[in-house]
Amino acid sequence: MIRKYLTSQHKDIIQLLSLTLGKNNAWLFANDNYQLNKDEIQKLNVLIKNRANGVPFAYLSGAKGFYHLDFKVTTDTLIPRPETELLIDIALNLFTDNKEPYNILDLGTGSGIIAITLADKNPHWQVSATDFSQYALEVAKKNSTNDINFQQGSWFDAVPKQRFDLIISNPPYIKENDPHLLKLKHEPISALVSGKDGLDDIRLIIKRAHQHINKRGYLLLEHGYDQQEEIISLLQEKFSYIKTFKDYNFKNRAILSRLK
Ligand SMILES: C[S@@+](CC[C@H](N)C(=O)[O-])C[C@H]1O[C@@H](n2cnc3c(N)ncnc32)[C@H](O)[C@@H]1O
Repeated sequence: MIRKYLTSQHKDIIQLLSLTLGKNNAWLFANDNYQLNKDEIQKLNVLIKNRANGVPFAYLSGAKGFYHLDFKVTTDTLIPRPETELLIDIALNLFTDNKEPYNILDLGTGSGIIAITLADKNPHWQVSATDFSQYALEVAKKNSTNDINFQQGSWFDAVPKQRFDLIISNPPYIKENDPHLLKLKHEPISALVSGKDGLDDIRLIIKRAHQHINKRGYLLLEHGYDQQEEIISLLQEKFSYIKTFKDYNFKNRAILSRLK
C-alpha cells in the first residue's frame, strides 16, 4: 500500500511514488490505501535504490524546471541550476528594444536552457547555441520549440565566422581537485571541470570572444564564487563596462562586459 511507503524513510519517497504512478502528491495522500501492482513495485524499488545511491532526482525523472519552462535532462547534460537564472535576468534587461532581432549566442548550451529560455521570452532574437557534446545537443534540440541555430564544436570553432550582440556562457568552471566534485559524480565531468584553477575554458572564451562580438556587444559569463578578480583582469584588455553580479546566496556569480 502507498501508506507503507509514505511513512518510510526512503529519500524523496513522495516524489518517487509520484514518478512511479504518474500521480500528484494530493492523489497519493487521498489514495494511500492503493495497492501497487508488481510492475509498479519493481519500478519504485529501482528508483529508491538509485536515489539512495545519490543519483539526482532530475536524472530519475528526466526533467528539471528552469525559469518558466521545463527541460528534459539526461546524464549527458548538466542539471540546470537556479544560479543560472541570474544570466537570464541580466540578458533580458540588457536590450530595451525587444523587437530588434539581436543576435545571441549561448556557448556550451547543455540541455539548452539559456538559449531556449531567451528565445521563448524574445521570439525576435536570433539565437544560436553550441556544445562540443553531440549528445547534449540532441537533448537541447528536443527541448527546443523555437527556431534556434544549434552548432557542434569546441567554443568558437562551432561558429567560426559569426558575430553576435550578446554571447552568454555558463562554461565548466570547477577546479579539477575541488572536493565538491564528489557530490557531483553523476553529472558529466566535461560540463563541470576546467583545469587546475577552473579557469581554462573561461580563458579560452575570453581570448577569442572579441572576434565574435559586434561593436559594443556584450559578453556575459557565469563563474565560480572565487574567480571574479581573475576574470576581470582577463577581460580588461578588450572589454570595458565590466559589471559584476551576485547570486541569490550573495556569492559572486556572473560578469557582464562590453567590447571596447
Ligand atoms: C556548466 S555546463 C552548462 C550547461 C548549460 N548551459 C547550463 O547552464 O545548464 C557547460 C557546458 O559546456 C559544454 N562544454 C564543455 N567544454 C566545451 C567546449 N570546449 N566547447 C563547447 N562546449 C563545451 C559542456 O558539454 C556543457 O554542456
